[in-house]
Amino acid sequence: MTDLSVKYMGLDLRSPIIASSCGLTADLEKVMEMDRNGVGAIVVKSLFEEQIRNEVEFLSEAGHDYPDMDDYLHNYVRQYSINNYKEALLSFKKNLSVPVIASINCYTPGEWVNYAKEIEQAGVDALEINLYELTTNPKTTSEQVEKGYCDVVRDIVKNVRIPVSVKISSHFSSVVSFVDKLVACGVKGVVIFNRFYTPDINLDSLSIVSASPMSSPEEYLQTLRWTAIISSSVKNIDISVTTGIHTSSSAIKQILAGAETVQLCTTLYKNGLGMISTINQEISEFMEKNNFSSVEQMRGRLNYSTIKDPAKYERVQFLKTFGSFSK
Ligand SMILES: Cc1cc2nc3c(=O)[nH]c(=O)nc-3n(C[C@H](O)[C@H](O)[C@H](O)COP(=O)(O)O)c2cc1C
Repeated sequence: MTDLSVKYMGLDLRSPIIASSCGLTADLEKVMEMDRNGVGAIVVKSLFEEQIRNEVEFLSEAGHDYPDMDDYLHNYVRQYSINNYKEALLSFKKNLSVPVIASINCYTPGEWVNYAKEIEQAGVDALEINLYELTTNPKTTSEQVEKGYCDVVRDIVKNVRIPVSVKISSHFSSVVSFVDKLVACGVKGVVIFNRFYTPDINLDSLSIVSASPMSSPEEYLQTLRWTAIISSSVKNIDISVTTGIHTSSSAIKQILAGAETVQLCTTLYKNGLGMISTINQEISEFMEKNNFSSVEQMRGRLNYSTIKDPAKYERVQFLKTFGSFSK
């Protein structure tokens, strides 16, 4: 097989295929199987501050007669959860041959740094920050939201030595400028784009239900344009693409558009962990057929600044398809 090795945030990966943070990457047996299948790195299931808070609330509501017990409960559950997570990370590091990237999702400003510092102690290779706050207040501006994100990120980067990546949503008025701001905060990688659980409405029961957490293969198209544009417009950042990478063809397209790595989730649930070796094999065949001797050689071949007509990544395609009023 052709050499598929890549650099991602300064880490040496044997393949650009990363297992993204999800239930599968919380399980030692599963991540070991991913390793045997040739995965480049593992992003471990996130540690969610919100989940820890919910557990404390649940225990609190279960009832006790001591008001000061809540603080004790909170500290106990918090530390217990962090220690459990650290133990899992330690055993992943011990049993895997590939880099292990931890993932956190917090919402209390001070806690981000506390969690990050604790987790770094487990010897992980990098940290992915799952950064998202649903803003519903009409008075909150996008500048305020972005500033809040940047404050958190800058604080984390200052306090840990491992490389930090940020998993962002696509919901920014100027996503390229925001990624540029992340670089200024010291971030080494950006993961585009987080796919959220979305609410849906059940018309029979007239109630709010959860839409499927699994993506469809066409969803890779939502990121392709931004991979191409960010990779050519923002310097000193590595791109890892998540959402809709189900097959080798969408993985290859994202690399041609400029991604350093791609992340798999839904396809591993639906088609099994063997998809990792299938995709590696097919990328290798594609490279041989097209005379690419390294992934680096094909990376960005079709990004925004390399192609003759960059407008193809912009609005022109829309006009071509739907025509204009004057026609
Ligand atoms: C069951 C499930 C659990 C997930 N858990 C996390 C998580 O803990 N942290 C995170 O950053 N993303 C999580 N994700 C999002 C995935 O990492 C991924 O970004 C998203 O599913 C899009 O990739 P896909 O199209 O390959 O599924 C989860 C996704 C699924 C389906």
